[in-house]
Amino acid sequence: MKNITLLGATGSIGKSTLLVVDLHPDRFNIFALSANTNWQQMLELCNKYQPNYAVMVDEQSAEKLSNAIITDTQVLSGAQALDEIVAHQNTDFVMAAIVGAAGMSSALCAAKAGKRIMLANKESLVLAGDIFMKAVGTFNAELIPVDSEHSAIFQCLQSGKSGLSKIQLTASGGPFLHTPINQFKFITPDQACAHPNWSMGRKISVDSATMMNKGLEVIEAHYLFSLAPKQIDVVVHPQSIVHSSVYYEDGSTLSQLGNPDMRTAISYAMSYPQRINSGVATLDLSNTPALEFYQPDFGKFTCLKLAFEALKKGGNAMITINAANEIAVEHFLNHKIDFLGIPKIIDQTLSTMKHTTLNSLEEVINNDFVAREMARETIKRYG
Ligand SMILES: NC(=O)c1ccc[n+]([C@@H]2O[C@H](COP(=O)([O-])OP(=O)(O)OC[C@H]3O[C@@H](n4cnc5c(N)ncnc54)[C@H](OP(=O)(O)O)[C@@H]3O)[C@@H](O)[C@H]2O)c1
Repeated sequence: MKNITLLGATGSIGKSTLLVVDLHPDRFNIFALSANTNWQQMLELCNKYQPNYAVMVDEQSAEKLSNAIITDTQVLSGAQALDEIVAHQNTDFVMAAIVGAAGMSSALCAAKAGKRIMLANKESLVLAGDIFMKAVGTFNAELIPVDSEHSAIFQCLQSGKSGLSKIQLTASGGPFLHTPINQFKFITPDQACAHPNWSMGRKISVDSATMMNKGLEVIEAHYLFSLAPKQIDVVVHPQSIVHSSVYYEDGSTLSQLGNPDMRTAISYAMSYPQRINSGVATLDLSNTPALEFYQPDFGKFTCLKLAFEALKKGGNAMITINAANEIAVEHFLNHKIDFLGIPKIIDQTLSTMKHTTLNSLEEVINNDFVAREMARETIKRYG
């Protein structure tokens, strides 16, 4: 029986993780759950799973949960409590599924505590890739990707990296793949969040629509698989059936295929190196629409271009684009800027921030803070 600490339990990945847990009550136990403000949903989850701990990062929400809870679950509050529950001696596996930079500290603590980290929070690697990977090695943690593309690469690389020439991340292209760029300024948050293939939280849905999500995934892949930027390729594949591919020098290409449902990658991270039922229907290739593949349009999806540039630049550039993106997406979702404003804010923030190398977590956190302030200032000017 493995004890799971599930961070971001009320989110899209959190819910899918619980669906897999439901299928295997003999293998997995929910030890701790976390959310930010959604205490009502957390109350339901506590009633059903009776975890030892429930963390609400927001203090007022923790108080409301504490007053309403009738199980023996201990309610904790604050971001520090996340760091404590992941490192708890009874935690075996940590599902890191908090959205955004807010998920970095707890994921890093899980690495330092030598846990199995099932990593959905790609921002942890975008912000602190070197520090994170070093902690995984030093403390013998297990890092299993949950992003479907990285899970695909991880699965394809099971026989090793010998003779590997490149990896190729597939991108659906999002809801605006075929929308002319002169229509982009009219795109609404609800349109941007209506992804054709995947059901996801609102922030990552907007990231998919701008293709910044793919850009963050390129950076994630660089750290996860220790690859040079030129070894990471992106191809647009609107059907989201081929989740990603690896290319070898002998001419072989290995791909992982499946229906677009995160439970496959989640269950693999939970059961690795074995495989278990995830609840996802088996792929029926004879009834699958024709599979298409295109080169990404960097002129239209400038966020993807900016992410590649930041990776090549190194240093604080990746932290800066992530911070500016989070601020820009939040303002777009709140109808404060238009869709085209997102790449503009990121670009301007990146050109304004001084380029530097960062050597400690404190410097990373400080750069993230300064870049957010700068992005807000840029939005004021832009607005
Ligand atoms: N969804 C997908 O299919 C998918 C696929 C691949 C990778 N990912 C990655 O997985 C992560 C989660 O994505 P998601 O789509 O599941 O997000 P989501 O549906 O928006 O859920 C986010 C979760 O994080 C919690 N949260 C939000 N802000 C927080 C904060 N400041 N501190 C602590 N917890 C906070 C939320 O709690 P409340 O409900 O209380 O706000 C919620 O439980 C992201 O990094 C995303 O890039 C997602």
